[in-house]
Amino acid sequence: MKFENFKIMATASATPARVVDNDELSTMMDTSDEWITQRTGIKQRHVAVDETTSSLATSVAQQLLDQSGLTANDIDLIVVATMSPDYLTPSVGAMVQGNIGADNAIAFDVDAACSGFVYGLKVARQMLMAETQKHAIVIGAETLSKLVDWQDRSTAVLFGDGAAGVLVSSQPQTAGTFIAEDLLTLGKLGKHLTAGQVGVRSPFAAQGSTYSPFFKMNGHRVYGFAVKRVPESINHALTKAKLTAADVDCFVLHQANQRIIEKIAETLAVPMTKFPVNIAQYGNTSAASEPILFDELVKKQVIKRGDVVALSGFGGGLTVGTMIIRY
Ligand code: ACO
Repeated sequence: MKFENFKIMATASATPARVVDNDELSTMMDTSDEWITQRTGIKQRHVAVDETTSSLATSVAQQLLDQSGLTANDIDLIVVATMSPDYLTPSVGAMVQGNIGADNAIAFDVDAACSGFVYGLKVARQMLMAETQKHAIVIGAETLSKLVDWQDRSTAVLFGDGAAGVLVSSQPQTAGTFIAEDLLTLGKLGKHLTAGQVGVRSPFAAQGSTYSPFFKMNGHRVYGFAVKRVPESINHALTKAKLTAADVDCFVLHQANQRIIEKIAETLAVPMTKFPVNIAQYGNTSAASEPILFDELVKKQVIKRGDVVALSGFGGGLTVGTMIIRY
């Protein structure tokens, strides 16, 4: 038998216990609940205190095993999408593999910022294609709070921490989840959104160079990029799927900004009722935002088996990634 597609078998998420609302941020910097809510839709965010990207991702992986009835030894692949790993090496994926004891799995990270979950799903889908059935865990996990300059109100109010993911198993084409995808990288625009610059301390390097670990974002450029490129990407993926926007039951978009999502819905001429949002509770959790929302919608049975779902992420790189699935 040929396993040319995959199916999502389980979903899970984990967020830090500490919640910081807009009023608390307003005591730390010159901002207000009114400004943040109006411009972004965000009311609060979860912020890591003891948690790390790998501890959140490990919690997600363990929940996925518990739900699916598989053991750690059944897992062939672990992909973690993250732009905020604990270390440059080992990868978060390798740390999760070690923590859950998935000794038969290979594991690594993908970094496509807020598009990372769709990029990770693409990698897993293609690596699962085989003559025998295989299983993969794909997680988006971030602790963006460590990349935030908490003095900079223009970015500090936007981001949050969390992790979520899916367990996928390869399936024959007819039983699969995947329908179509559209991924795009615009590296020439990368400078409009940077974070986590790695400093050079070599005695051979030019001295006096400055570097910043913190987010730097040209909000207007990223906003314009998102409201143009995301509807284009969704339409390209729908064309490949031989579907129209009206055929999609639910659009699970990267939760960067409520206004961006409303604009995308308007461009696609789809009512906002098909664009569920949870940005108010979590802020922008980059690669974790789509799987956190997806898990919530599956648990609430808003997304049901057989529904057509458009997952679409956009952000640093700059990158866009859309995947159309039949859940
Ligand atoms: N509180 C109060 N005032 C603020 C704040 C704040 N937190 N931040 C900025 N301001 C002020 C500015 O200083 C400015 O004041 P001025 O008019 O006196 O100069 C005013 O508010 C307006 O600022 P703008 O930057 O023009 O606000 P805008 O409406 O563009 O919203 C935002 C900014 C929310 C960042 C928006 O541009 C946006 O959402 N951009 C896209 C971000 C995005 O999608 N990122 C996704 C990728 S993230 C990733 O990949 C990790």
